[in-house]
Amino acid sequence: MTHADDHPDKLRDDLRKWVGQNKDLGPDWFLDEGPVAAAEVPPASTVQPAAEAKPSAEPTAEIVAEPAPAPAPAPKPTSQPPAEGPAPAPPISNPEFKKECDDFTEATLGLLAQQPPRQVAADPLLEKHGGDPRHALKDLRDEVLPCRLCKLAETRTQVVFGAGSAHAKVMFIGEAPGRDEDLQGQPFVGASGQLLTKIIEAIGFDRRHIFIGNILKCRPPGNRDPLPDEVMACENFLKRQLAIIQPSIICCLGRVAAQTLLGTDDSLGKLRGSVHFYEGIPVMATYHPAALLRNPAWKRDTWNDVRRLRALYDALQQRRS
Ligand code: URA
Repeated sequence: MTHADDHPDKLRDDLRKWVGQNKDLGPDWFLDEGPVAAAEVPPASTVQPAAEAKPSAEPTAEIVAEPAPAPAPAPKPTSQPPAEGPAPAPPISNPEFKKECDDFTEATLGLLAQQPPRQVAADPLLEKHGGDPRHALKDLRDEVLPCRLCKLAETRTQVVFGAGSAHAKVMFIGEAPGRDEDLQGQPFVGASGQLLTKIIEAIGFDRRHIFIGNILKCRPPGNRDPLPDEVMACENFLKRQLAIIQPSIICCLGRVAAQTLLGTDDSLGKLRGSVHFYEGIPVMATYHPAALLRNPAWKRDTWNDVRRLRALYDALQQRRS
């Protein structure tokens, strides 16, 4: 009996996919990560107490929201965005993909022009601080850190507010803190966070240029999916972060982030394929870095997703100047 996976059509499709995935190789992050089985999903019982935890590599980013526990230099108090902008976008050598990026950008700009004006009032904290997002975000963080709105307050070690620039034009949204994030109080600092940093750097940004947040601010025990009541309790904090930062592009990392922000049950496969809008802001979706650690073959698609994102960022910047 032929196994379904051995069907000649399937084998041909797989080969075509494989060849497609391996032409025009991207930068190192695309190649150098082997599968890491359940890298971020340790059983809850193996969680070390904070004092004994080995700190993971620190993000290089200016941490606006929270001082890092390890000896990162304290951010300079300033309400200005980072002086240096992102590095140039990586060149796209494949003319077909270049055209795809251009078409995507043009279509998105067209859709953006049709968006109704933003309904969301600016956050009251922005008004309080004369429109300065950095101070507004710091005040919001002070509100979020003692939160006890859901049961996760009983099991978390630290609230993970989010980190990056209050002036960020691009905001990445993950699902919820994992073990390392819970211990350090910073988003995406574990194995998947290190991959996310590489992905961000591969398109010319660093963690100072963007903001990284999560749907949930506290770790679900054992890294299970967020429960609806936890999402409901926490979503206002994310909405307020978005209202304060007002990014130009949102990138959802994984199914849970994309479905929650967009209020849909559509699969990640479907959501990845096109641009969406949250309160008039373009939203893109790609694979969660933890999924890439388990399925390295998805890195090619992710690399294309983030290059499209960078092309859109450049087009929006160009339009502004
Ligand atoms: N996974 C997430 O979704 N968020 C984090 O901050 C870390 C891992």
